[in-house]
Amino acid sequence: MYQLSVLGSSWQSIQHITFNIQNKMYRSHTCGELRITDAGKEVTLAGWVQTVRKFGAITFIDLRDRYGITQLLFGEDLNGQLEANPLGREFVLQAVGKVSERSNKNPNLSTGDVEIAVTSFKILNKSAVPPFTIQDDSDGGDDLRMKYRYLDLRRNAVKKNIELRYAVNRAARNYLHNNGFMDIETPFLIKSTPEGARDFVVPSRMNPGEFYALPQSPQTFKQLLMVSGYDRYYQIVKCFRDEDLRADRQPEFTQIDCEMAFVEQEDILNMFEGMVKAIFKDVKNISYAETVERMTWEEAMWNFGNDKPDIRFGIKIANLKSVFTRNGAITATGELINGADFKVFDEAETVLAIAVPGCSEYSRKQTDELTEWVKRPQVGMRGLVFIKYNTDGTLKSSVDKFYTEDKLKAIAGFANAKPGDLILVLAGTEDRTRKATSDLRMEMAERLGLRKKDEYKLLWVLDFPLFEYDEENNRWVARHHPFTSPKPDHINVMIDNNPVIENAAEYLKHPYAEIKANAYDMVLNGNEIGGGSIRIFQRDLQEKMFTALGMSDEEAVHKFGFLLGAFEYGAPPHGGIAFGFDRLCAILGGSESIRDFIAFPKNNSGRDVMMDSPSTIDDKQLTELQIKTDIRK
Ligand code: AMO
Repeated sequence: MYQLSVLGSSWQSIQHITFNIQNKMYRSHTCGELRITDAGKEVTLAGWVQTVRKFGAITFIDLRDRYGITQLLFGEDLNGQLEANPLGREFVLQAVGKVSERSNKNPNLSTGDVEIAVTSFKILNKSAVPPFTIQDDSDGGDDLRMKYRYLDLRRNAVKKNIELRYAVNRAARNYLHNNGFMDIETPFLIKSTPEGARDFVVPSRMNPGEFYALPQSPQTFKQLLMVSGYDRYYQIVKCFRDEDLRADRQPEFTQIDCEMAFVEQEDILNMFEGMVKAIFKDVKNISYAETVERMTWEEAMWNFGNDKPDIRFGIKIANLKSVFTRNGAITATGELINGADFKVFDEAETVLAIAVPGCSEYSRKQTDELTEWVKRPQVGMRGLVFIKYNTDGTLKSSVDKFYTEDKLKAIAGFANAKPGDLILVLAGTEDRTRKATSDLRMEMAERLGLRKKDEYKLLWVLDFPLFEYDEENNRWVARHHPFTSPKPDHINVMIDNNPVIENAAEYLKHPYAEIKANAYDMVLNGNEIGGGSIRIFQRDLQEKMFTALGMSDEEAVHKFGFLLGAFEYGAPPHGGIAFGFDRLCAILGGSESIRDFIAFPKNNSGRDVMMDSPSTIDDKQLTELQIKTDIRK
């Protein structure tokens, strides 16, 4: 038995495996297994040649496999054979020899106390010179490593990620199995019902002119399974979405997809809080004892400018708009503040501020650089106002011309600042300013080292809006998905009001803008790792929902008739959640990019550069599918 170690915690023991092919033993041990206590044993190892080092008459070879690296010592007697069969990097080698104590031990290797004094060897296969070094700090660029991903996967750094992924998979499965969940597969060739992202579609040869879609998630199937009585379902399943890619998005990604019947929101939150904690424990040996914090969507948006706040640090956003109205605001000490002369604040739709601890001594150069940072197109602000709340209690700002020190002190009070803080103020339109302040908060936290890789903070964000306004099409879209139920006391708002938005500019005044959903997201360190909802399970409410989204009755039946039909046959109350499996792995592995945790990922243009896919298909295939295309590559 040997332990595989992932990021310092042992998570998994795997039975010693020997491969016996045609009665010939390929290996007696793995390259990660032998210790000083094995000294004297005759062993056979098989693996890949990591390095070949010649010292006079003797040769050292580091032999690598999935489990580790073991040093092989080829004495003078094998020189003739080595010359006749020269070994190169990545050759597949089998070596027989005796375990012996090393004279110069390597404390960085688990096998570093021993080496194998080789008595015979066999080259099982040769290797071309690899296009990059198979090492932690490889010399291969991203594209090259992706093209030869099968070589990249040999690197320890990548292997550790893949091992961690498996550990998370096992921990989730164990937890769900122990809680009575059943893994039930659902189809990949389904009906196209784009809502949210675009569908990937697959032409049907047997039904010319018709297409399947690949599922964006198994959402409707898991709900049907609830109707069928399988009251605890899960699946670790591929989902496909044709959307713009980012570091935390892939066109095909994996969800831990779950659904439960006869539950309320509280049951779901408890169950899946438990799952994530079990994963923490199994994979990282972290006991996450405290109850996961909760916050409503409104609170998240107002206090952090964002629906997935990183709450490992404070720095809440203060809304100063009321402070800068023309009529001004009365401070705690009874003073009236108004910035009637400072148009940037007075006329802005919104004025938001953060108080960044310990930065009151920022130099001119540093504040200028921050101003440039907020002006970058990605952030898109016109400028940044700062107020230094010095440790001696004095205040200095970039708007001294407009505000006396007393007024600045009052503003600092509204921004919840204390001596030593640097107050950063942004003004502009509501959405943009909110996002920019949120980005600035994260940037400052990053600069101050407040986003610690080994600190984990979970958060439930609750009570999302049911609808979102789609400006382009002047209609309501489902914020989560169309199967999410409204809060019980908001159902009547939906029943009683027509969804038509008369004046697009004033959509926020429409009663639908206020409807909240039984929807929740789980956030980890500022990343949305999961989202779900309590579902609609009554046909009439589901129909009303489709109408609200601008679907005619015929369209609703064409797209979702199967679900509406199922709701007529005793659908139980149900709800669920899906976790972004790749994202969870990336965060637990301390990386920003989910690609590092997927064995064969796509690049930023959605291409598999190893297979060179997507690609054109034969004319014969097109003819069979009765598809004509004008694009020829
Ligand atoms: P949702 O669309 O919120 O919910 O997805 C659930 C979680 O999946 C992850 N995720 C992604 N990960 C990588 N690449 C992507 N392109 C991508 N898109 C989403 C996120 C997200 O939180 N059926 C519902 C769940 C439910 O209601 O039960 C759903 O799919 O971490």
